[in-house]
Amino acid sequence: MKAIFAASSGLNSDDWVAPLQNALPEVDFYNWVPEGPAIGAEIAVVWQPPADIFQREPGLRAVFNLGAGVDALLRLPGLSKNVAIFRLEDGGMAVQMAEYAIYALTRASRQFDVYQRLQSQEQWQPQPDIRRADWSVGVMGMGVMGKRVAQAIAALGYPVAGWARSGKQVPGIDNYAGSGHLEAFLKRTRVLVNTLPLTPETTGILNRQTLGLLQPGAHLINMARGEHLVEEDLLALLDSGHMQGATLDVFQQEPLPAGHAFWQHPNITVTPHIAGATLLEEAVSQVSEKVRQFLRGEPVTGLVLRERGY
Ligand code: NAP
Ligand code: GLV
Repeated sequence: MKAIFAASSGLNSDDWVAPLQNALPEVDFYNWVPEGPAIGAEIAVVWQPPADIFQREPGLRAVFNLGAGVDALLRLPGLSKNVAIFRLEDGGMAVQMAEYAIYALTRASRQFDVYQRLQSQEQWQPQPDIRRADWSVGVMGMGVMGKRVAQAIAALGYPVAGWARSGKQVPGIDNYAGSGHLEAFLKRTRVLVNTLPLTPETTGILNRQTLGLLQPGAHLINMARGEHLVEEDLLALLDSGHMQGATLDVFQQEPLPAGHAFWQHPNITVTPHIAGATLLEEAVSQVSEKVRQFLRGEPVTGLVLRERGY
């Protein structure tokens, strides 16, 4: 049985192929490169693989994605509906997403930005105490990432609500479900945290109209995908003063191009898609277990439902 590793960005084959081979001695692992010969593989372990992989490896039966989001994968040509796609479930990413959201939230709510500026002016100037009730947080997407993020923020005493397709009963988190409840969810939210998958339904979901429903002084934390956000709408809402700030990890074009308005904006914090990094040890352990279950014909969790797009 042949398996391939293919990643076009971020993950280096030198780091991944040997650990995968060690964890799965029962398969023969190859590093797949576009200019190389076709391997005739049945299994692929991938992260944003080269565009022609499915056309050149038509014998694939299953693809194991080294990340939670499968949007880039589903866009590739030649991906047959018969190929099962499995995504990474947590694998050490969710706690990082929670850390990122708490960093961005508390930087705004506790005014750490202000203190940073004051320090540069050698000013000792305590700011007014915060009321947590003034910083209601709304988490879009209550899956593996969103649930962990919402729980971590709720544990700090902020009012938190989650919004998903289906209702999620999570103790301490107010539950909103479906497009019919989006407006109410946004109206009660000041800090909006996005952990949605990118699908046709969620593309452009962060726009002038939806962000305009947030409470005054709103802050956006986008950790999901750049295509969720209509970038010029965010800039307009920041300029108008309706929104106070944004912390953005993902962008329509990555790397964020030189000269992009986000780089120098005083109220935007930019990070280079690192909110929830794929961790080698955790990912290899999870993927190798999933591959084994798949080869034994057992149920495997994390199956992507094509009709849903996640
Ligand atoms: P997941 O477990 O599949 O959760 C997705 C959540 O979004 C579910 O709660 C789902 O609702 C909800 N959802 C999907 N479509 C929706 C819609 N149209 N309306 C309302 N809710 C909708 O995914 P995950 O593991 O949490 O990952 C989520 C995303 O985070 C990934 O797709 C990726 O884009 C992003 N991510 C980014 C980084 C980073 O480093 N920046 C790292 C990891 C992940 P149901 O529960 O009702 O199905
Ligand atoms: C990262 O962006 C992921 O989807 O895992």
